Amino acid sequence: MALLRAIYKGLDDRYQLTPFVEKNITRKWVPRTLGWAGCFGGLAFLLFVIQVYTGILLLIYYKPDPARAWDSVTFIKSNVPMGWLIQRVHAVGADVMIVLVLMHMARIAYYKIYRSPRELHWLSGIILLSLTAGMAFTGYLLPWTNLSYWGASVATEIPTAIPVIGEQISIWARRGPNISGETLGFFFAMHIWVLPGAAVIFMGIHFTMIRRTGISKPL
Ligand code: HEM
Repeated sequence: MALLRAIYKGLDDRYQLTPFVEKNITRKWVPRTLGWAGCFGGLAFLLFVIQVYTGILLLIYYKPDPARAWDSVTFIKSNVPMGWLIQRVHAVGADVMIVLVLMHMARIAYYKIYRSPRELHWLSGIILLSLTAGMAFTGYLLPWTNLSYWGASVATEIPTAIPVIGEQISIWARRGPNISGETLGFFFAMHIWVLPGAAVIFMGIHFTMIRRTGISKPL
């Protein structure tokens, strides 16, 4: 602790970190009338951080290959120390994050905070909601269980109801006519790189906009 404090002091003397940290993090002003429902956005962000952390730990043992995916998840749950806990936290965390994002959105809708000047906050939020749902959906296939296989089958069948282009969308999402090893590889890449990467970018945009307008003041 003393070492960390000394390192911080050394950096602070050189780069004046304290005024920056105080202005942007520790002395953030929020309206007195915000209430407990104002914490859902922050909690959704906390869940995202937990998901990234537990996801990286799971990646150490997980194999995105149809012949080994199920075995690797079973290995994590039964042989890796605390593996069952990390796996459970990651699986349940996905659901909790969706619930928190929806509760955050419900508060914004209830207080009509989406109105000017916060329309683009709402728009970036809709993108974040889609990305959150996408991460949960692609992650569901990864353990390669019967349930996840049929879940992905049914969900990727839904676009076929769209006239003309529906079939193509379904083939694109499955990387072929059926759920296969190709789908697993595609969902894996989406789950660990593309969707979280996009989520980080849009969260950055979301938070910057909130900083510029300030948090709304509910009556
Ligand atoms: C991963 C998803 C999301 C995260 C991590 C997130 C995070 C946050 C945070 C930390 C705040 C500031 C505190 C607060 O008002 O709660 C905020 C504000 C806001 N968010 Fe989100 N958000 C997410 C999704 C959404 C969604 C789905 C919507 C709506 C479609 C939305 C719309 C807004 C708006 C309009 C504000 C401004 C609130 C105000 O000024 O009082 N966000 N968000």
